[in-house]
Amino acid sequence: MLAPLAGYTDKAFRQIARSLGADGAVSEMVSAEGLARGGEKTEALLERFPGEDRLVVQLFAPSDDPVRRAMDRLLEYAPTAIDINCGCPVPKVVKTGAGSALMQDPPMIGRIVRAIKERTDIPVSVKFRLGWDSSSINYIEFADAAVEAGAEMLTLHARTRAQGYSGTADKKAFRKLSRHFSGSGVLLFASGDMFTPQDAMQAMGEYGMDGVMFARGAIGNPFIFREAKDLRDTGSYSLPSTAERIDTAMHHLDLMIEYFGEGIACREMRKHLMAYIKGIPGSSRAKNAIGSATTRQEMKQALNTLR
Ligand SMILES: Cc1cc2nc3c(=O)[nH]c(=O)nc-3n(C[C@H](O)[C@H](O)[C@H](O)COP(=O)(O)O)c2cc1C
Repeated sequence: MLAPLAGYTDKAFRQIARSLGADGAVSEMVSAEGLARGGEKTEALLERFPGEDRLVVQLFAPSDDPVRRAMDRLLEYAPTAIDINCGCPVPKVVKTGAGSALMQDPPMIGRIVRAIKERTDIPVSVKFRLGWDSSSINYIEFADAAVEAGAEMLTLHARTRAQGYSGTADKKAFRKLSRHFSGSGVLLFASGDMFTPQDAMQAMGEYGMDGVMFARGAIGNPFIFREAKDLRDTGSYSLPSTAERIDTAMHHLDLMIEYFGEGIACREMRKHLMAYIKGIPGSSRAKNAIGSATTRQEMKQALNTLR
């Protein structure tokens, strides 16, 4: 699956990822409080691309109360599953008690999951970390609290909150988690340093996970979904050509323009395009041009210099 990535996994990026083999995707994180209040920006995050047949919607909330109040609005969007963010390390979120702050309060994740389960049969998923820091590793206890309350899917980002996104993910934790829930029917996803198709195979083979979420590994490289499936199904895979990378980047840009308008699209696409062209000979000059481009034509001109 394509992991939730705030600022990235909008409907255009999800469409690109799905077209290249992702079996599913998670929305950007959505504030339960914002949803409960009917915020337009919040609801825009829930829109799907035409034909998007399934979408896991991720909520962040410090407690069950805003989640309860958000349910009416949320259910109008018929999410395929509802995921609770217990991993976000950003101070603005953590300060409120949401995101990775929930790792310090396992009973609260139970309350949140139960609040959803009381309202709907839609599967509930929880995405969490190893613990708050290296001296408070509690992912098994935390996962137990979520599952006892009714969660059917778990995604472990195998880092602590203190690690943020740096340092290496402790992938052995995947094995511990999969052994712990062996035979339980809980669907287990791996997250953390998923940068190659081999990383996915290892998580699903050696470590016994049911699936993986590609996050930073998919930014500028949505081909990773196809590569991972090819590796799984045929034992090998090939990398995209430069032409395909540029064509896909342009298609992504066009979808963004269609969905959000040229101004927003050009601004939001810079970070994606920089990632698409990374490593292509001549990319540093193109990066400068992309950095200052404000129209579709200027963006495309910059990309075309790399063909
Ligand atoms: C820019 C960025 C935004 C992210 N946004 C979210 C988010 O909204 N919700 C969430 O659960 N995780 C979020 N994550 C975490 C990723 O989903 C993933 O768990 C993490 O990047 C570890 O995977 P990786 O090492 O393979 O990138 C974000 C990560 C990054 C880098």
